[in-house]
Amino acid sequence: MADTREEFYLDNERVREFVDTVERTADAHEEIPALLTALREPFERLLEDDDWLPDLYRNLPSEDYDNKSDMGGDIAQWLLYRQEGKLSLSSLVVPPGVETPVHDHLAWGLVGLCQGSQHEQFYRRVDAGENDTGQARLEALETQEAGPGDFYELIPPENDIHSVTTTSEVPSVSIHLLGADVGCIPRHAFDLDADLVRQFQSGYTNVECETPEAMAPGHNHD
Ligand SMILES: [Fe+2]
Repeated sequence: MADTREEFYLDNERVREFVDTVERTADAHEEIPALLTALREPFERLLEDDDWLPDLYRNLPSEDYDNKSDMGGDIAQWLLYRQEGKLSLSSLVVPPGVETPVHDHLAWGLVGLCQGSQHEQFYRRVDAGENDTGQARLEALETQEAGPGDFYELIPPENDIHSVTTTSEVPSVSIHLLGADVGCIPRHAFDLDADLVRQFQSGYTNVECETPEAMAPGHNHD
């Protein structure tokens, strides 16, 4: 791991301890379901601890802050840690009543709430699903209500497409541990009314992504 590029945007003992645990656990488990099972307990403890995440990363940015995230609706996605191409830890802050775009993740993950409550709607694609842009049909699956301490596993393609709405009077804050630099990889967002899919890079509020070539303006999608 010595040559892997790591970036701590939030650098404290608790984050370093958690990242060490994730690395050790990942080394010991090749299969994603087994890895996620082994990470459940440490992730739950991270959600329960309330002193490691500073106010900045559990709030919406101030009005004059240049929010670089493209989640829309004044949503903040704060990057806390990433390991090039492999891992990211971030906090997602969604204002009361605001819904995220319907989106996928394309990576394994654990996502859990540490403040507020959320309504979550899962979907799956019911067309061939091979195009990144253009027509796409989704079917609504189950819904879920989540409160502080609740978390779920992402194992694509299962449960990979969803939207999240904050149902509390305070912004919801969720912690995302994902097996990719999820804010900067090209993913998909869906328009349910128009049956359309588009390429989507959510970005991070506090960190600029290098725009992948396939998403650069002027690139021809064919
Ligand atoms: Fe999500």
